[in-house]
Amino acid sequence: MRKWNFCAGPATMPEPVLRETQEELLEWKNSGMSVMEMSHRSDLYMNIANEAKKDLGDLINLPDTHDILFLQGGATSQFALIPLNFSHLGEPEYLLTGSWSKKAIAEAEKITKLNVVASSADDRFTYVPEYKDWILKSKTSYFHYVSNETIQGNTLHTVPNIPNPIVCDMSSAILAEPINVSDFSMIYAGAQKNIGPAGLTIVIIEKDFLDQCSGNIPNIFNYAQHSMNGSMLNTPPTFAWYMAGKVFKWLKSIGGLEKMQLINQKKAKTLYDFIDSSSFYSNPVRIENRSLMNVPFVLQDANLDSRFLDESFNANLLNLKGHRSVGGMRASIYNAIPQEAIDDLIIFMKAFESKYG
Ligand SMILES: Cc1ncc(COP(=O)(O)O)c(C=O)c1O
Repeated sequence: MRKWNFCAGPATMPEPVLRETQEELLEWKNSGMSVMEMSHRSDLYMNIANEAKKDLGDLINLPDTHDILFLQGGATSQFALIPLNFSHLGEPEYLLTGSWSKKAIAEAEKITKLNVVASSADDRFTYVPEYKDWILKSKTSYFHYVSNETIQGNTLHTVPNIPNPIVCDMSSAILAEPINVSDFSMIYAGAQKNIGPAGLTIVIIEKDFLDQCSGNIPNIFNYAQHSMNGSMLNTPPTFAWYMAGKVFKWLKSIGGLEKMQLINQKKAKTLYDFIDSSSFYSNPVRIENRSLMNVPFVLQDANLDSRFLDESFNANLLNLKGHRSVGGMRASIYNAIPQEAIDDLIIFMKAFESKYG
């Protein structure tokens, strides 16, 4: 029996995608083989890969100025690859808003000097510093930020209006709502939240930016090389790419990102409204920076945490434990989590409150 899984990633997949994959697992469309057994250079597989790329492009209104790469290595690899490819443009600028931007900065610092434009570490990353408080040193070096901090549950809801090439870790926010790709020189995301199974990393990158990739790094680390080779410089994560294609079709079938945004806004509002109306639960994040995808919350009495987790597990609500670094609870409510799951979570939370509050 499938249960509601609020895991932050790898996360819940849309059920129709899992079912279709199951049907096709042994043999893909009279090909005599599973997708996972196909050569990545075969016509059969190239069609699957190209269709997935086109569907993602349709969903995000990909402009001709940008390319999409299907890579391995996770978002964490990009923390290193971005400065390897682009730090020669000048000392990069980083916004520090939580655990993931902190990791991105720590990795980049092994490669280059950089400037942290602002930080919300002073208040345990419960907000995103306002633009007026940022100190940018350069207009030409890239600017990096994490649009949605998965662990702290904070989001910068607007794209900064600055001249620098903007590089964004959108791992836990991509495809949750429409994006204007032209605002970015590079967007990247590990697949395991809103895209598909772990192992695939999506990079959406401006062609002019690709032209500026450093030539002094091995090909496998070079974004321009990946683009020139259609993400087939080496064997890509073929099965994850195929499943991501199914997720893109599922998103199209429900009405694309505009529709997904409405569904997500309703889900998040129901949960935040409930938390705010209770004195038993609370969410520490500034209202204007609250995440659409990751909702952390704490119980007034932390001694009840383990009981909350045991009882929610028994109520078929899985993976509500907050990240070990911040404690408390977190409900990750990515695209594949329906409103019904939120409603069931709230029913449970109310019952728990009346039992122990
Ligand atoms: C915002 C963000 N960045 C980076 C990562 C790291 O991703 P990966 O495990 O794909 O390297 C995560 C993973 O949860 C994340 O949420």
